[in-house]
Amino acid sequence: MQHMVKPVCILCLQCSLLYGVHLAAAVAAAGDGNGGDQFAYSGFAGVKDLTLDGTAMVTPDGLLELTNGKPQVKGHAFHPTPLRFEESSSPEGGEKKAAVRSFSASFVFGIVTASPGVGGHGIALVITPTKDLSSGLASTYLGFLNRSSNGDNRNHIFAVELDTIQSPEFSDIDDNHVGIDINSLVSSNASDAGYYDDNTGEFKSLTLVSGKAMQVWVDYDDDATQIDVRLAPVGIKKPMKPLVSTRSNLSTVITDEAYVGFSASIGTMTSQHYVLGWSFGVGTQAPAIDMDKLPKLPGRRSKKSYPPKTMVIALPIVSVVLVIVVAAGVFLLIKRKFQRYVELREDWELEFGAHRLSYKDLLQATERFKNKNLLGIGGFGRVYKGVLPTSSSEVAVKRVSHDSRQGIKEFVAEVASIGRLRHRNLVQLLGYCRLKEELLLVYDYMPNGSLDKYLYSHDDKPTLNWAQRFQIIKGIASGLLYLHEEWEQIVIHRDIKPSNVLLDNDMNGRLGDFGLARLYNRDTELQTTVVAGTFGYMAPELALTGKASPLTDVFAFGAFLLEVTSGRRPVEQDIEGHRLLLTDWVFENCSKEQILAVIDPRLNGNINISEASLVLKLGLLCSHPMSNVRPTMRQVVQYLNGDMPLPEMSPMRFTFSLSALMQNQGFDSSLKSLGTISNLSIGR
Ligand SMILES: *[C@@H]1O[C@H](CO)[C@@H](O)[C@H](O)[C@H]1NC(C)=O
Ligand SMILES: *[C@@H]1O[C@H](CO)[C@@H](O)[C@H](O)[C@H]1NC(C)=O
Ligand SMILES: *[C@@H]1O[C@H](CO)[C@@H](O)[C@H](O)[C@H]1NC(C)=O
Repeated sequence: MQHMVKPVCILCLQCSLLYGVHLAAAVAAAGDGNGGDQFAYSGFAGVKDLTLDGTAMVTPDGLLELTNGKPQVKGHAFHPTPLRFEESSSPEGGEKKAAVRSFSASFVFGIVTASPGVGGHGIALVITPTKDLSSGLASTYLGFLNRSSNGDNRNHIFAVELDTIQSPEFSDIDDNHVGIDINSLVSSNASDAGYYDDNTGEFKSLTLVSGKAMQVWVDYDDDATQIDVRLAPVGIKKPMKPLVSTRSNLSTVITDEAYVGFSASIGTMTSQHYVLGWSFGVGTQAPAIDMDKLPKLPGRRSKKSYPPKTMVIALPIVSVVLVIVVAAGVFLLIKRKFQRYVELREDWELEFGAHRLSYKDLLQATERFKNKNLLGIGGFGRVYKGVLPTSSSEVAVKRVSHDSRQGIKEFVAEVASIGRLRHRNLVQLLGYCRLKEELLLVYDYMPNGSLDKYLYSHDDKPTLNWAQRFQIIKGIASGLLYLHEEWEQIVIHRDIKPSNVLLDNDMNGRLGDFGLARLYNRDTELQTTVVAGTFGYMAPELALTGKASPLTDVFAFGAFLLEVTSGRRPVEQDIEGHRLLLTDWVFENCSKEQILAVIDPRLNGNINISEASLVLKLGLLCSHPMSNVRPTMRQVVQYLNGDMPLPEMSPMRFTFSLSALMQNQGFDSSLKSLGTISNLSIGR
């Protein structure tokens, strides 16, 4: 009995404590009367009626968490009901819009990161006609505007931004500023974060990304049509001198009824954005926030989890049970694990001895496949960075799972022969190691990663200039020519795409992963998924017959050329979910002599027109649905080097749209049936 009662009591206590917190918060928020002209939240515990979307949530501690530290996210939080901003004595039936009344807002926020001073995007207090900001973009757009709406007077958005990245496109002054935004992310006025000391008048700098709570005051005076914004660390009273001001009659900006809330976003650099307390008043001062009731910001070390208190009690009990279970399990596991990680060596492997690496060395090289050494998850398995203990050279170790019973002998023979391939545009395979269910392939390490990262990086990462792109294109063509024609056997790559092109120290392109697709092509079950995984690079005849040839590689290379030049993927979906084929789009523009329209806008027009136009036309020729029209890789290299002129592309040759032709060949139907599978596949 004793044992039964005790835990129940503790839980009860827990509950009543939690309720206590809820009640306090509810009382604090009750300032929001029927008039809806003012409200105050001193912490958000138990506040249920905020309108939240994206990553925004209220934590059990009562913090309003707008973003969670994941890259490329946004979160919005709104007071549920709109506030009336217009003058109450609004002229009846008048055409003239009523004037917006004075208002005042105050909030306490905190931006937390793993390392202070280093963080991404920011928070904005927003006043908008709608609670639906779903069309706002993350990152630089702070979650409330987008490329087309930025700067548009019809937005009717007023915002005060706390921005922690300098975006030159919005003329940001630095990466730590407070700005007043009227319908635009180009601030009407902005200032480096800080405050003017009331006693000395001295400016004191503050770091927004500090993990410390700070308070912001926003005041609009309808007589002076002036907006004043102030900032100070929590505990310092509202400074007399504003940090930043601007003059604007907000009557033309804020709608008669408008919603007030927060928008926050993250780009590639991450932070967690929190609001601790918030008050607002229209036609009156914002009510005071009760600083004693505010929740605590999470510290740096306790990264981002809020273990409920019940867990603290349950933990010891759970751990004891766990220890017993684990002890029992370990016995069985060890037995199995040893079997699984036992290196397999058989007599037939002796002839490949030179390429055989020991599992022990690879474990040491990758620090037992530690997550921090994970370079990525590719089409065939995880790839880890490592340093070989024998030669201290940097390597990439790929773990490919396999079924030991099937075709492994042939595969190892192939790996060994691949190991003899040597070309400066191929990623060198150094060796392999074989376990029961896994094959470890060891390659040269490529410090600059894969090409797709440069083509599709979202904001801050520099893209490649045209000269670099052209050099990569020429390199890959030469590597492919070597595989097709210059080695003792014909090697078909089968998986040409930017994520399989790696960049070495000098930004030369090198093909990786060759021959691997073949392993799986033997295995009928996996065949379709792998083929579909690289869908968009797949020649029609390959989709129909499943038979790869040098010309199916040429087709994929054509898609690759268009992709590198246009910065678009070979198959994209429009808003209505229709598939758009890059070849169609390029062909259409090329036939209208609008080559420039398809060049990657990130190049800002800095291209060599004749090279770019050659590459695009060659891309179309290589991706021709009829294989006999495609050039060989030898011809491709000659065209690219200017040793041979590209055959004139008479419109007759492309009289019909490529996708129409594909449809005639039955490609479209096979494409549809593959569609569902492609979602499962590993892709990019
Ligand atoms: C601001 O604009 C409104 C509406 O156009 C107008 O009624 C009001 O007088 C203006 N305020 C000032 C101070 O000019
Ligand atoms: C940008 O935002 C505006 C206003 O919210 C919206 O109408 C428009 O569709 C958005 N544009 C894009 C490309 O999302
Ligand atoms: C910007 O704000 C500062 C600080 O309040 C103020 O001195 C300055 O006049 C403002 N500039 C404009 C253009 O409003």
